[in-house]
Amino acid sequence: MKSWSRAVLVCMLVHVIREVLSGGHPYIVPTVGQVWPKPQMHVSQTSTLSISPDQFTFTVTDETCPLLQRALDRYLAIMFPANKQLSTARHAGRVSGKALTSFQIRLMAACEGAPYLHMDEHYEIKIDSPDEPGVGSIVAVSVWGILRGLESLSQLLIPAGDGTYFVYATQIMDFPRFSHRGFMIDTARHFLPMNKIKEMLDLMSMNKYNVLHWHIVDDQSFPYVSDVYPDLSTMGAWDSNRVYTSADIADIVSYATDRGIRVIPEFDTPGHTRSWGDGQPDLLTECYTNGSPNGLYGPIDPSKETTYDFLKALFTEVTSRFPDHYLHLGGDEVPFACWISSPSISEFMVQQNITTYSGLESYYIARLLDIVANLPTANGYMVWQEVFDNNVTLASDTVVHIWKGSGDDLENELSDVTAAGFSTLLSSCWYLNYISYGTDWHPYYECDPQNFNGTEAQKSLVVGGEACMWGEWVDRTNLIARTWPRASVVAERLWSDASVNSTSEAAPRLEEMRCRLLNRGYDAEPLGWGYCDADL
Ligand SMILES: *[C@@H]1O[C@H](CO)[C@@H](O)[C@H](O)[C@H]1NC(C)=O
Ligand SMILES: *[C@@H]1O[C@H](CO)[C@@H](O)[C@H](O)[C@H]1NC(C)=O
Ligand SMILES: *[C@@H]1O[C@H](CO)[C@@H](O)[C@H](O)[C@H]1NC(C)=O
Ligand SMILES: *[C@@H]1O[C@H](CO)[C@@H](O)[C@H](O)[C@H]1NC(C)=O
Repeated sequence: MKSWSRAVLVCMLVHVIREVLSGGHPYIVPTVGQVWPKPQMHVSQTSTLSISPDQFTFTVTDETCPLLQRALDRYLAIMFPANKQLSTARHAGRVSGKALTSFQIRLMAACEGAPYLHMDEHYEIKIDSPDEPGVGSIVAVSVWGILRGLESLSQLLIPAGDGTYFVYATQIMDFPRFSHRGFMIDTARHFLPMNKIKEMLDLMSMNKYNVLHWHIVDDQSFPYVSDVYPDLSTMGAWDSNRVYTSADIADIVSYATDRGIRVIPEFDTPGHTRSWGDGQPDLLTECYTNGSPNGLYGPIDPSKETTYDFLKALFTEVTSRFPDHYLHLGGDEVPFACWISSPSISEFMVQQNITTYSGLESYYIARLLDIVANLPTANGYMVWQEVFDNNVTLASDTVVHIWKGSGDDLENELSDVTAAGFSTLLSSCWYLNYISYGTDWHPYYECDPQNFNGTEAQKSLVVGGEACMWGEWVDRTNLIARTWPRASVVAERLWSDASVNSTSEAAPRLEEMRCRLLNRGYDAEPLGWGYCDADL
């Protein structure tokens, strides 16, 4: 058969299958009023309470702080969007019971200033519970728990179609399975404007993510504006508009903090640093061909003392701008060809008795880790898995970030890292930048970070995971649609109980979540055919 006629046949077949499958029905019918990610415990009664936006208030009964007050204002706007009259078709005509006018916020301990690894995120929601009929409340011991509870509450509200809402009598008791639930953005391959990063933070908080991993610089560009080394961005950024100043970073950090999200910057070295060399001429290794420099540059030159002076000054500044305890130091994919070509590197290795290039990489990383651990801020660090694989000596609180492999290779890596006593984070199965046609989220959902052979102690060293959106083919135009709701799938894996693992049970809830994000004004892409109230 000629290839064109085969193609025509395939098209016709696909068309017929589509017609048979859809027949005017949505691919998956969304649930109504379910919370995503699924809470640890959620019990709903059949009785409902009605909520009228102009009569509803939050009452803070215990501790409070400006961060909490801002969250309450934010959630009132999310729960009751001023200019939208959503959802007449699907939910109109529901019965409404007694009115719920006041909702209590019970924060049992003083607010903490910033989120951190292993912060407390427990919360409880009670609406018209047997012991407190007619009352709604969120109880938590930390402000972070209140934030998570507010998000869940906002998802329980169902528009009645007449400008009011209703909610089922409900009890929720909830906490995350993993403490580190991260999303990685890449602002080096393409610049991402501030408003897009904030949009991502909004969406992350709606999915109970709590870490923004900001892969801020790489080979292609250096948008971080340094005061100690201003040439790094003036020479290394795409241009002077595509940069993040210290004020921009402070803005992102405070926006994230308000949403209970940590910001961990990644300054990946010694590879992935081509753009660094533009503004810092002696930093990178000069590559040689036939005994003379060929004009190309390789990884950071580990043989020069000036390299370490530079790193110390740069990271002193970086850690003063990003308050989180952790810094991501990269360490992945170091190419050795340029080091091999360099006479001065060879000479240095002889002097230092270093016999392999992975040994040279280890020498560099060990010195970098030592610098970072001895900064005034005494930071902890995260590194990509190669650093561990190359047997670099690591501080005991290092988090090893696994990004390679699948199947047995991945399970063995998880097992080896935790057997060595290190905390670990998984990303291998959550590279959302890879896309394909059709339903692609099932493997994300089915990937479990604790699925490896190991003791309970080893399993408890898995602090969580991160979904990644590498930026080679992603900029502000497609970031949101490509990420959401696919990242919601990872969010549920990281928050909900391990037993919440059925894709068929999750699918209708995920449809609701996707429509919810769209209804809130975010361009989350569809999961299959159908409609949402806000897709007009
Ligand atoms: C390299 O090895 C020699 C011989 O064992 C030793 O004298 C020297 O101190 C070593 N140099 C370094 C930097 O470890
Ligand atoms: C690291 O150590 C392991 C176990 O001793 C060894 O199998 C592996 O080859 C080492 N890797 C490197 C890059 O030295
Ligand atoms: C994990 O343990 C089981 C049972 O001992 C074994 O069948 C399986 O091959 C192991 N998996 C890996 C990746 O070693
Ligand atoms: C899903 O969870 C159930 C209940 O805990 C468990 O029995 C089952 O093995 C899990 N399935 C997978 C694929 O992990």
